[in-house]
Amino acid sequence: MTDTNVKVREHYSALGLTDRIKAALAAIAPENQTLTVPQLAPLDQFHTRGILATSELAAAARIDSSTHVLDLGCGIGGPARYLAGTFGCKVTGIDLSPAFIDAATYLTERGGLSDRVAFQVGDALNLPFDDASFDVVFLQHVAMNIEDRTGLYTGVRRILAREGRLATYDLVLRDGGVMYPVPWARDASASFLLTESDTRTALEEAGYRTVFWLDDTKVALDWFKTVVGTQPQSGPNLALVMGADFRP
Ligand SMILES: C[S@@+](CC[C@H](N)C(=O)[O-])C[C@H]1O[C@@H](n2cnc3c(N)ncnc32)[C@H](O)[C@@H]1O
Repeated sequence: MTDTNVKVREHYSALGLTDRIKAALAAIAPENQTLTVPQLAPLDQFHTRGILATSELAAAARIDSSTHVLDLGCGIGGPARYLAGTFGCKVTGIDLSPAFIDAATYLTERGGLSDRVAFQVGDALNLPFDDASFDVVFLQHVAMNIEDRTGLYTGVRRILAREGRLATYDLVLRDGGVMYPVPWARDASASFLLTESDTRTALEEAGYRTVFWLDDTKVALDWFKTVVGTQPQSGPNLALVMGADFRP
């Protein structure tokens, strides 16, 4: 494993996560009760604008029941369960963090979606899949942890089928520096934001043709203003995953 991967994995190590999630969920539903995608959304959508962003990206990617999706850097699996639950498609999730994969598998059983969604530990820069295995690769708030951006996008392209789509939602670098800690890194050693222009260049170098590009900065800033002040502090949420000092 590379030094960067060690640091990224450490950042998302989440000790005892599945047990902590089980305990927190006991407060909202008994263990034998199926949990819905919206019930889990405050906990398991680990990116700006939560489930709203996932639904918009899914629509842009033209996902339907016949689409085989790879959710790359799937976290604890919220987006994967949203896709399978909404469209009835098959989703594979892969993530560097063993604790996240364990929690993702548990939550998917609780959501009754294990027949369509499967998870495994793995590295986005060394994808353990055959060429042309997926119709869509979903990549939400992951690329900022990956230094070799062209390598990432090239590897994804290899596993996409003909007419396949990369659907990616990411943060980009603007004026000014990053004030650490941020949700994806404690310091600069695990953070590799690119500008919008450099992101486009990396995609083009990897051979992609852009069919849709949207800058949602304003909507995202409004979301932060609304959500940061109004989200419930108790119950299953991202602080359970990342620690009490987590701020979206
Ligand atoms: C901010 S979370 C986003 C999780 C998920 N995509 C979501 O939106 O809910 C970033 C995720 O990327 C994963 N990740 C970072 N670098 C990775 C790599 N090289 N290979 C696989 N997963 C990686 C992390 O382990 C973490 O789960």
